Amino acid sequence: MRQMKLVAFLQAQNCTTLPSSWRHPDARIDTYSPEYYQHIARVLEQGKFDIGFFDDRLAMPDMYAGDHSETVKNGIRCTKLDAVTCLMSMAAVTKHLGLGATYSTTYYEPFHVARLFQTLDLMTKGRAAWNVVTSVNDNEARNMGREAHLEHDTRYDRADEFCEAVLGHWDSWDDDAIVVDKENNLYAHPDKVRKIDFKGKYLSSRGPFTVPRTPQGRPVVIQAGGSTRGKRFAARWGELIFAGYRNIDVGKLEYSAAKKAAEAAGRNPDHMKIASLMYPIAAATKSEAEDKKAAYELLSNDMDQLLLLSEALNFDFSTKGMDEGFTEEELEGLQGMQAMRDRVVSSGVKNPTPRDFMRITRRGLLSDGHTMVGGPKDIADEMEEWFHSPACDGFVVGPTHQPGAFEDFVKFVVPELQKRGVFRKDYSGSTLRDHLGLDRAAIGSWKTNYDTVST
Ligand SMILES: Cc1cc2nc3c(=O)[nH]c(=O)nc-3n(C[C@H](O)[C@H](O)[C@H](O)COP(=O)(O)O)c2cc1C
Repeated sequence: MRQMKLVAFLQAQNCTTLPSSWRHPDARIDTYSPEYYQHIARVLEQGKFDIGFFDDRLAMPDMYAGDHSETVKNGIRCTKLDAVTCLMSMAAVTKHLGLGATYSTTYYEPFHVARLFQTLDLMTKGRAAWNVVTSVNDNEARNMGREAHLEHDTRYDRADEFCEAVLGHWDSWDDDAIVVDKENNLYAHPDKVRKIDFKGKYLSSRGPFTVPRTPQGRPVVIQAGGSTRGKRFAARWGELIFAGYRNIDVGKLEYSAAKKAAEAAGRNPDHMKIASLMYPIAAATKSEAEDKKAAYELLSNDMDQLLLLSEALNFDFSTKGMDEGFTEEELEGLQGMQAMRDRVVSSGVKNPTPRDFMRITRRGLLSDGHTMVGGPKDIADEMEEWFHSPACDGFVVGPTHQPGAFEDFVKFVVPELQKRGVFRKDYSGSTLRDHLGLDRAAIGSWKTNYDTVST
């Protein structure tokens, strides 16, 4: 039977994607210790998750009023540890759990990213994944020595080159290149190690690469572009796609379109697994879960929302009155996460105000198709409906707070999914590609893809 994929959405910081989560009475406060991440890793492995992945942002969200004081005061993503370093502490206490981190194509060099993730893959015996993002806002640009963030589609053009270089490096050592033949003084076969000599419009990288092949061939590539250009990029490179489908009907259409886009890019669509974002609020019974949800809703305040909107849309929301509408020109100019802007625009509200933005995007966290509230049967029923439609191959599980939301999910929902035969009772392989059903043969066809597809 087709098996569901489960991805844990992790943040190396004080809150989850639910910005107010640090205020939750059960949220742990030892965020800056290895024990915190190791505990989460153990919970996820006990729940047989495919992978835990950290998102990233290269700046504190201080776009609002051009200052960080509200951000720090309200604890809105005001800290962000380096994700790969946190993953290594999690790797030390797990054997199977896949480990993913987000790294930007806009602010690092391909050689650096290729080396970092290939090393992570070796050190975890084939459990690593790279979430490829192009970054979102000007604050990230300023931290990384630039004046302004690159224009949206140009970021993706550059990211195409970035991936060509990274994957080229990853593929530049043959599996059997290293022999360590001490008697005959042959460390590795010179003809099995190549230079990529990549020269693009935006980037170049020569090689030879300095990290050999890994047990799963190379790290898994994750992508989550939501715009038209982003989806085209995902179709070309993504092996694991994160989507935030608004509801199951949208999910069905988008899922099928994404698989077709992968096919059109010359890939086997089955080598691209799509996980849709969901926030479970799980308990022993539906009414207990409803009570939990009501309690979460009290945690968030308006300032949380305004800080986050400013960050995501690369626009200072303090410059607008709460009931002052955005003109069409202003909406057009929002350059951050376009999918979020489009969601507000497509809601039908003409000249949406900051209050409209807050209402429409807040719904995304706890009150619309992303949130599944209930006892084991309620949540498993809903997940199965999405999975079998199909509107996804699995889920990115976003926690309302950490580590409690994962503990609840593993305690209440995972056994129910296992009982129904749609989710593994145990890991059957050791690498992340094994868990995701992305066999190494898929790498061969992908190499052909990046050699031949032009942007
Ligand atoms: C589950 C999920 C996780 C994401 N994680 C990140 C992240 O860590 N950093 C980031 O900049 N964007 C993240 N994104 C956003 C997208 O990857 C993408 O950068 C954003 O949507 C902007 O591109 P777009 O205009 O093509 O949508 C995430 C999206 C989803 C659905």
